[in-house]
Amino acid sequence: MMFRELHPGFATEVVGLDIGVPLPDATIAALQDAIDAAGVLVFRGQHLDDDTQIAFARRFGQPERYVLSYRPGIKLRLAQAEMVDVSNLDAATGAPQAPDSRHRMVNLGNRLWHTDSSFRSPRGALSMLFAHAVPPEGGETEFGNCRTAFDRLPAAMKQQIETLQAEHSLMHSRAVLGFTDFSPEERAALPAAVHPLVSVNPRTGRKSVYIASHASHVLGMPVAEGRLLLADLTEAATRPDLVYRHEWKVGDLVIWDNRCTLHRGLAFDESFPRDLRRVTTSDLLPASVQ
Ligand code: OGA
Ligand code: MN
Repeated sequence: MMFRELHPGFATEVVGLDIGVPLPDATIAALQDAIDAAGVLVFRGQHLDDDTQIAFARRFGQPERYVLSYRPGIKLRLAQAEMVDVSNLDAATGAPQAPDSRHRMVNLGNRLWHTDSSFRSPRGALSMLFAHAVPPEGGETEFGNCRTAFDRLPAAMKQQIETLQAEHSLMHSRAVLGFTDFSPEERAALPAAVHPLVSVNPRTGRKSVYIASHASHVLGMPVAEGRLLLADLTEAATRPDLVYRHEWKVGDLVIWDNRCTLHRGLAFDESFPRDLRRVTTSDLLPASVQ
């Protein structure tokens, strides 16, 4: 196993490792160290079915349940409750979705800069996204480096945000795009969550801004002022020199740490299938570091 940096101080490729087979604890520990160092890890040429992808994710933490699975009577394309369907495929036909499909509407929210499951408590930790089918062009995923963004902030701003918290909700980020079709059951299962604006990695001590499209306001601040602060921080973490753009190939698995990165999907010709499937672990820290 070797590491190859794809973006300075950020995204890193792991070369020469097949993650579809049971791996020794020492390899998982080395990968966790690499995630802590890089924020985004890329593996190419993998062969993973859904069960194997979930089993791999379990080595790093407890997978969370797919947010769309809480809707009564919903028919999902993928059987496992841990598997997030990031595809543009219809659950009934397997073909690209109709333009007004509800699943498509929810997934369009992925085009906004966000981090996964910031609207949950515990929040999302690691996301692992695997490519089964990709369009001939477009549909890349961009990642912003929220640690370097924090490091570059003026000292006064660092000090200001270290004591602030934001409220996050899935309904907020979808409402921004005009989508509000959530049932009472979904709203009850996915209440808003409050998290500090600054994250600290307990193993490395590195600080990061923690923001997302899901953040609706900053506690203790007028809504408008909080939203402007969130917009400024998002801009700081997504300056062109802090963004790694991943061009997907079938067989790619990308792992990112949601606590120190932002990401967004880019547009593509949706008449082509794009089948990406994600497992996200919860941020459950061992008692010794909590
Ligand atoms: C995700 C996501 C973006 C994309 O899987 O969490 O935001 O490019 N994906 O599909
Ligand atoms: Mn996402």
